[in-house]
Amino acid sequence: MARPARLRRRNCYHGRLSGAGQAGVVPAGPPPGSSIVSHYDHILCIGAGYVGGPTMAMIAARCPHLKVTVVDINQARIDAWNSDDLPIFEPGLDEVVRAARGRNLFFSGDIAGGIRDADVIFVSVNTPTKTFGQGAGQAADLQHWEKTARQILAHATRDKIVVEKSTLPVRTAQAMERILNHNGHGLRFDVVSNPEFLAEGTAIRDLEDPDRILIGAHETPEGRRARTVIADIYANWVPRERIIESNLWSAELSKLTANAFLAQRISSINSISALCEATEADVDEVAYAIGTDSRIGPRFLKASVGFGGSCFRKDILNLVYICRGYGLDEVADYWESVIAINDWQQARFVHNMLANMFNTVAGKRIALFGFAFKADTGDTRESAAIGVTRQLVAEQARVVVTDPKALDNARIDLAPQAGLVEFEPDPYEAARGAHAIAVLTEWKLYRELDYARILAGMERPAFIFDGRNILDHARLHAMGFNVFAIGKAPLKHF
Ligand code: NAD
Ligand code: UGA
Repeated sequence: MARPARLRRRNCYHGRLSGAGQAGVVPAGPPPGSSIVSHYDHILCIGAGYVGGPTMAMIAARCPHLKVTVVDINQARIDAWNSDDLPIFEPGLDEVVRAARGRNLFFSGDIAGGIRDADVIFVSVNTPTKTFGQGAGQAADLQHWEKTARQILAHATRDKIVVEKSTLPVRTAQAMERILNHNGHGLRFDVVSNPEFLAEGTAIRDLEDPDRILIGAHETPEGRRARTVIADIYANWVPRERIIESNLWSAELSKLTANAFLAQRISSINSISALCEATEADVDEVAYAIGTDSRIGPRFLKASVGFGGSCFRKDILNLVYICRGYGLDEVADYWESVIAINDWQQARFVHNMLANMFNTVAGKRIALFGFAFKADTGDTRESAAIGVTRQLVAEQARVVVTDPKALDNARIDLAPQAGLVEFEPDPYEAARGAHAIAVLTEWKLYRELDYARILAGMERPAFIFDGRNILDHARLHAMGFNVFAIGKAPLKHF
């Protein structure tokens, strides 16, 4: 099918910079063919979180001719970005930050000064699900977003390009433009949508070598010009053919749609995992078999205890809310079912634990291997582990949580369960005296543990519930464990 005329890739620069793929190796100046980027050499990002920090660090590392400043209302976060102990764990991030910080990358609490200096302002503040008033539990809470618009307006003294980096409901740019451009100061603000597609744990790889960069703008001379400025920044290291241009609304909606499609694949395979358990089919074999169909593809077909992370749930809920707002209830119901299956999968996991541990876990020590929502991150937002822990605590289990990077966040998430949950960095210690282990994060280290040693210290019968299907189940069973995986027949000794 032909690409829609407005959703096209730019084609004037195909060169790949020799330094691409190596943090700290940078090109000497603007990319060939770039005409206007040099007039826009002060970049500001408002929001120094999981997206703002790494994204701006990559832009600064790849574009030494640009000055990149990242500001935040959270001074502690800014201080951490300026220290040797960065506020987020992300493989490869330290090197990229070190390559540029103090040279052309700056983290600062001076939001007003940053706005005054900037030619281009990326806005990467949090857009969580609203917890109050109209749309509570579904709509995006845009208060941080709107505050930044008003901050920009209060401190700007010349025209600027404002870039939506946060994930936002479709048509948010219209509200941003209305706030910014009815300013009475005679200033002009061009709003561009440039959603971020990085995944945590692989953020640096995703930023270095993205599948695509999407930039939406109005199809007006000013909109096209603003889009070119942003495209020219990325063209310092991203091949032009991977830079997609679209209209504003398509870019905004593409971000919500991409997350909805990714989450839908996980819910689809998780729904099939339940059928596998009932029929003795093996979900990994089914996923492999269908994933070899080039129309389906192999990725995002890993059955699990359920998807987590800060965005899938909130973005789908937001999509559902938007659809209902347009009277598209069938569409809303369709996407809402992706979340319903995810909630069900998490609850089903705990139900299976309970059913197989003789219908009671009261007083039993249960070791949870992993609390992060996925491997290679310390982030626990919406982690399946949170719901699993709460359900087990409600059943009066003695839960002990272990994780190599996420224990600090786990303590915060489980504050309401304080005193009822133990936190233990060493998985061997966590499993000592336990009746069961539940693997909730696919950390590589959990594949490599000495399970014979672990088994020796556990109560009998000893159970393993592998919520990530990462362990060698046959071997564990042969050792003496009763093994329950997702979408597979149980391997038990009774
Ligand atoms: P985050 O909570 O880690 O960071 C947001 C930061 O914005 C916080 O440090 C907060 O203090 C700051 N902030 C809020 N209001 C501010 C204001 N008025 N002025 C200055 N700073 C302000 O969030 P995040 O994970 O980086 O996500 C940011 C956006 O990017 C969200 O819309 C999210 O949906 C989207 N996104 C996130 C990811 C991800 O992997 N985390 C990936 C793609 C897109
Ligand atoms: C996701 C998207 O992959 C990014 O493209 C997007 O930018 C980001 O959301 C966002 O908007 O915040 P992220 O949540 O960081 O990235 O991580 P993913 O790799 O997508 O994993 C999400 C959850 O799904 C994790 O809990 C993971 O364990 C789970 N998952 C993933 C599965 O259960 N099975 C899979 O096959 C893949």
